[in-house]
Amino acid sequence: MSDSTIIETNSDATGAKRYAVDRGYWSDPFIRYFSSRLDKGRRTVILSRRYFTRVHTFFTQAVAFCSKFQGKCNIVSLGAGFDTLYWRLKANGTTFSQFVEVDFKEVILHKAEIVKRHRPLHDLQGDDYTAMSHDLRAEDAAASIRAAVTDPSLPTLIMTECVLVYMPPNDSHRLIAAMAEAFPTSIWLDYEPINATDSFGQMMVHNLKARGCELPGIHASPTVAAHSRRFEDSGYEHATAVDLNHAYQLIPADERRRIQRLEFLDELEEWTLINSHYCCTTACVDAANAGLQHLLLPTQP
Ligand SMILES: C[S@@+](CC[C@H](N)C(=O)[O-])C[C@H]1O[C@@H](n2cnc3c(N)ncnc32)[C@H](O)[C@@H]1O
Repeated sequence: MSDSTIIETNSDATGAKRYAVDRGYWSDPFIRYFSSRLDKGRRTVILSRRYFTRVHTFFTQAVAFCSKFQGKCNIVSLGAGFDTLYWRLKANGTTFSQFVEVDFKEVILHKAEIVKRHRPLHDLQGDDYTAMSHDLRAEDAAASIRAAVTDPSLPTLIMTECVLVYMPPNDSHRLIAAMAEAFPTSIWLDYEPINATDSFGQMMVHNLKARGCELPGIHASPTVAAHSRRFEDSGYEHATAVDLNHAYQLIPADERRRIQRLEFLDELEEWTLINSHYCCTTACVDAANAGLQHLLLPTQP
């Protein structure tokens, strides 16, 4: 698969987020600068609820992490694409020492150009923001990212939101192991598709392949258990992984009721089935004894 096909997955993610934001699933005043309403991708209620669960999980984990360390911490978003988390955290008053975004050069340059053109983005961006282009499959990725971080000994939240699955398993294992060494007090939050072998999973992989998009990492980490094992085998001390049905149950009940009222969803079985094909993993390594284990996603609702 070409890098440009991988890069295109960013437009899909941004378009789906914009669509869900326009329907009230969550508030994001910044997404409209990164995706036009004219984007014609196929969107469904299930897709919007799935994105809601994913975005809610990443936002609440980031806020909890930054609050725990009262802003003396780093966030490193790998394969950040056009994600708006940095601006949403700033608008929320959440503080951190440094927020680093890593992606292919083409994505980083395009994002910088959009930020430059729009004051609400530009005005919020401060010295605490770093964007760097790097291929995450490269052997020196973790060392280069470490070099871009002012204080890598601070507690660091590393995020991969639908990114590792586009990397060959050897490269993602090497990246995870090298990041654990480069950031010895870090917690990783990862979101990926799983279960590619049942009939729905095969269809999911087939449909993406028909659009030229392969998922080289999906078979190496096929289940929730395999996801936590991948981190534990690569230098992380503790890991928890849950499927998206479970992640949805971790969202406060009033917030779930609110989004369930937004758009009618008849296909509850399909929603449950699709959610069982996505996984959120947290893993930590804690050289400074900072209590990172308390921030792992709970495996009990
Ligand atoms: C599906 S998009 C997700 C974007 C963002 N994390 C989000 O959830 O909105 C995957 C992103 O990972 C980036 N990516 C995938 N493989 C990469 C690699 N080897 N090096 C750098 N970036 C990569 C892509 O360019 C793309 O922006």
